[in-house]
Formats: sequence, structure tokens, C-alpha cells
Amino acid sequence: MTRNILVTSALPYTNGAIHLGHLLEHIQTDIWVRFQRLHGNNCIYVSADDTHGTGTMLNAERAGVTPEALIETMHKEHIRDFAGFGVEHDNYHSTHSEENRALSEMIFNRLKDKGLIHSKDVAQLYDPVRGMFLADRFVKGECPRCGAPDQYGDNCDACSATYDATELGSPRSLVSDAEPLVKHSEHYFFDLPKFTDMLKAWTSSGAVQPEVVNKLAEWLDGGLRSWDISRDAPYFGFLIPGTEDKYFYVWMDAPIGYMASFQNLANRREDLDFDAFWGAAAEGKTELHHFIGKDIVNFHTLFWPAVLQASGLRKPTRIHTHGFITVNGVKMSKSRGTFIQASTYLKHLHPECLRYYYATKLNGRVDDYDINLEDFVQRVNADLVGKVVNIASRCAGLISSQFEGALAAHLEDEALWRQFAAARGRIAEWYEAGQVSRVMREVLALADLANQYITKQEPWQRIKQADGRDQAHSVCSQGLNLFRILAVYLTPVLPAMSKAAADFLGVRPFTWADLDKPLLGERINAYRPLFTRMRKKDVDDLVEASKEAEDGKDQGEGSDEPISIDHFNKVKLKVARVVEAALIAEADKLLRLTLDTGDGQRQVLAGIRSAYRPEELAGRLVVVVANLAPRKTRFGISEGMVLAAGPGGEDIFLLSPDSGAQAGMDVR
Ligand code: 2FM
Ligand code: ZN
Repeated sequence: MTRNILVTSALPYTNGAIHLGHLLEHIQTDIWVRFQRLHGNNCIYVSADDTHGTGTMLNAERAGVTPEALIETMHKEHIRDFAGFGVEHDNYHSTHSEENRALSEMIFNRLKDKGLIHSKDVAQLYDPVRGMFLADRFVKGECPRCGAPDQYGDNCDACSATYDATELGSPRSLVSDAEPLVKHSEHYFFDLPKFTDMLKAWTSSGAVQPEVVNKLAEWLDGGLRSWDISRDAPYFGFLIPGTEDKYFYVWMDAPIGYMASFQNLANRREDLDFDAFWGAAAEGKTELHHFIGKDIVNFHTLFWPAVLQASGLRKPTRIHTHGFITVNGVKMSKSRGTFIQASTYLKHLHPECLRYYYATKLNGRVDDYDINLEDFVQRVNADLVGKVVNIASRCAGLISSQFEGALAAHLEDEALWRQFAAARGRIAEWYEAGQVSRVMREVLALADLANQYITKQEPWQRIKQADGRDQAHSVCSQGLNLFRILAVYLTPVLPAMSKAAADFLGVRPFTWADLDKPLLGERINAYRPLFTRMRKKDVDDLVEASKEAEDGKDQGEGSDEPISIDHFNKVKLKVARVVEAALIAEADKLLRLTLDTGDGQRQVLAGIRSAYRPEELAGRLVVVVANLAPRKTRFGISEGMVLAAGPGGEDIFLLSPDSGAQAGMDVR
């Protein structure tokens, strides 16, 4: 029976670029979706950008743009990056959409009507300078347990203690550097404990992996608490109906973004019906699968099913949870060049190399996966080029040159062909279970058999013998038919290679039904390499290109090499007046300066935080490189560079206040 399946990948935050971690999840999901389609099921795949929260508000502010403009730019980049890796979402929407607003309000109202929302007074740290409550990652202070300095508001890196931000010693706001106050406000809570029994039953019904059941049992047995679903203004998000300054917490409307993305697609597609996938009656009829990382299991296996059930909607069929990624055995790191962004990767390497490498790791469990860069090159070259594609390249030449591109009318070894096709049952089971690495191992084992067969049959020798021509023809046709089966099996992982293979064989894109019978007597096209070897140098270049100067280190040391006067004359130096200076949350060395250069204002990020407090800079004059091309940094755009002298630390000297200079003056 054809299954109707809706699949999602977790929604990437709008705040950052797509990187190897997002790619693991979206490629894993895409492989699963492509397998379902290849196997004949109806499968819809949606995702979106996760746009709300304090982070978006502050980042947009730093970049000097509106949150909406930031969202739009990132949305385009994210769509481009996923497409570059062959990840084919049917829809990639946004949580900042009208569909999401309407659905979030509808769900909230249903919960409220059922008496599942109550309000409570909450004490939180508040930044008096910015006039905002501080989420845990926007405040640092001393750990209440071990006294370690510089710890975030939720837990201590040094001793792993977890605590409430109000317990921190000597807290500082990372937004303004002010000392936060404790302030009270009213929050809305969802009555999660009411759903404990339902969740116990649901989590042990096969909806989550066994490792996850164990983790959930800890929470469920420890007693659930009501969930705080509101945040105070200022916040970037949706207003809670009936309030003027309370917003939905980003994690309330984010999963509803799955529905909103589907709704947006269904509005354009007549064959899709919202209720058929989301109505309570959809359970057992259609399927809903979420692919997520292990860090967000609680949101998807406790809050989300409870919210769905409470609002009269269906619960997910299965949550597929994956682990994290390390590169060469350690966490991805910007300074090591292993925090690799999708767009950087695509400048150096073929997307299907990564798809393949991920496929060799995926095992359906919650394990972390290591990307070992040497192993990466080795696996792609040895397996895909050396074994799989090699079968086609060994057999194609004779078919073209000796038989006018026509395959033989019969197989040389039908039993061998059947053996290959018979793997379909277990391969389908493994794909279904997310055990893609087993599929890859099976494909390689079969590729070894095919290569041994060709080596043994030596068609290139037989063709030289007077009576060996037919045999050579059927051996090469056999080889290509074995390759065809492997290409079908690899289709979900390597869609572009599969498409090129189908083109080479002169057939339509592969389907599972291609495993029913061999391709005989047909004419094929000239062979062109279906996959090229990876070069270690390209990987090294990728790592080099991914190395990012740490914050504040981009001022450069200069070089001893002389430059010409022409070169120097290109540098436009001007005096500018500091209109405003501000701290940048999460950047210890930088200040955000608004400068007046006489011909307008601009934003420059300057690594002078260790020497100057923002309030003493307003009105000061600085020398600025005025024609430096604007640079995008992770803290926003910097349009120029402020010149300063000194050894660093507290000794960084700007233009003297009594220099007599004026904003707009040229410096020469
Ligand atoms: O952890 C994250 O990256 C979140 N943006 C995932 C959201 S998934 C869904 F629930 F919206
Ligand atoms: Zn501690």
C-alpha cells in the first residue's frame, strides 16, 4: 500500500549560515525522503527558517537592519545552500509568516479554552540600560557553586552545576555590560504535567529510538513541570492574543513552523489537504516524521506531542534523532578551519562527496559522527570511484567501440544479476530504519563481486579472440546491468550521480521497479566519468578558507614588504567623530562604533574594547580607513577601520581629543 508521509528537518536558526551540522540532518532526511519516493510512497518534505527570539532582534540591530530584512537575506542564503547539496525540500518556509502566526494563535486559543494555560509571576534578570529581560545566554557572572568567573546564566562550564541566572554572583548583561536587576513579570505556562500518562505511552510506542526512551524516562519519572511559553517585550516574535507586551517564546512557535510550511505548500497544491496530515484523525492514516538533533529531543518528544494532542491535532509517527558531528575527533572549530559552512564547501568540493561520506556513517542511532578528513578523501576515492563507478567505466568502452553502443540481448550470468537484485528487500529495510551505512556496505560488497566477475571474465582479452566476441558483449552488458542495480540502490544518497548514470544508460530516472528486470538490447550513450576523484589539496584549501580570525584579531599586524606610493595613495584616511559606541554581546574585544565621517554615518567594529568604555568615546575623533570595502562579520557589517596605536590591552591610543582635527578632514 502506498504510504502518505510528511517529513521535516529541524528549522535552522535565521541567525547563522548553514554548516556541516545542518547538512548532516538535512542530508540524512533527504536520503530518507528520496528512498521513500524511489520505493513508490508519497512523501512531502518541508522545513523553514526559525526566525524568532532575542538573538534575531539583537543581530539585526548590530547589522543595522530590520529583523525582517535579516530574515529575508538569510532565507535566500539557506535555500541556496541546501539546494547546492541536492537537499530537495518541497517547501522551505519561515516561522515569521502569516500561516505560522494564524496557527500559533489558533493553538494557543485552543489550549486556553481547555484551561491548559495559567499565568504565574516570574523573577528574572533585567538589563536596566536596555530595558529588557535577559535570557540565560545574555548574562554572565560567577558560578554560585564553584565561583568560576564568566559563566552563563544556566550552567557552569567549570563544574557543570545548573542554576537559575538570578543566583549568579556579580552578574553582567552581555547586551550592555550593565549590572542586571531582578525584576518580576507575569508569564504564561502550559500545563505539561497533565500529559504525563499520554507521553509515557506515546514515547514507548516505537515513536522514538530506544536510547531516547531511556532519556525520556528520566524526565517523565522525575515529574514534568509546566512549560513557560511567553516572553516579555522587547522580543522579536508573535504577540500572544489578548496581550500587548507578551510574546510567544520562540520554542512555542518553532515546531508550529512545520505545520505552517506545510500549510503554505498546501495552499499552492491541490493534492495536499491540511487536515489529512494534521487533523486528529490523520493518526494511523498518514505519517508524520521529524528529523532532529539530540539537543532538542525534549521539545519534540514532550512539549510538541502534548501541545498537538491538547489542541486536537495528530501526534508525530516517529522522531528520528541524530547525534553531533566532530571533525578529526574534536568539536568543529573556527580557528582550526573545521567550522565549515555549506557555501565555502561548495567552492572546493563536490556536494555528493559529503552526501556519500555522511551515508557511510548514518546508523539510525543517536551516536555522534566523526568526519575524519583523510578518511573522507580515502572513502570517496576508494569506494565510489575505485569500486562502484569503476564497474561502468570498465564495461562501457567495449560496448561503445565494438557494439555501436547496444547492450547484448541476454545476460551472461543471470544468477549473479538475481543475487544483486535480491538485496532489495534488506536494502529497503535498512533505508527505512535509517541504517544507511549498512546499505553502503552492502553496495560495496556487491561492487566487489561485480569487479571480481569482470576481472575473471576479461572481456578485453575475449574480444581479441575470433569466437570471443559474443561473450565479451554479454560480459560487458552484464557488468553494466550490475552497475545499474547499484546505481538504483545509491539513488537516495547520490541523486546527481544516479541521474548521470541513468542518462548514460539512456533510461529515465531510476525507480525501484528497475530492479524487476535487466536492461537488454537497448542502446546506451557514450560514457563520461560519473564521479571524479577527490584531491586532498582541495580539502586542505577548504579548511584554510574556513579559518576565521578570532574576534578582534582582524586588525592585522601589517607586513614588512614595502608598498608603492600608488598603493598607499589608494588608502583614504579621514577623521571621523564617534556618534555612538556600544558593546557587542558575545564579542569581548570589539566595540560597535557609529562614525560621522563628514559625508554621512557608518558602522565600524573596532577592537578597542579593552582600552575604552563606550560612554567615554561619544564625541571623540578617530582616524578611519574610509574606503575599506565593507566586511560582513558575525557581529554585523563593518564599514571601515579605525586606526589606533599601542601595544594592546588598556594601551590603545586613538587621536588625541585636543588634536584640533575635525570630522570629515582628510588625513595625509
Ligand atoms: O535548535 C535549533 O536549531 C532550532 N532552530 C530547531 C527548531 S526545530 C523546530 F521545532 F522548529
Ligand atoms: Zn561552577
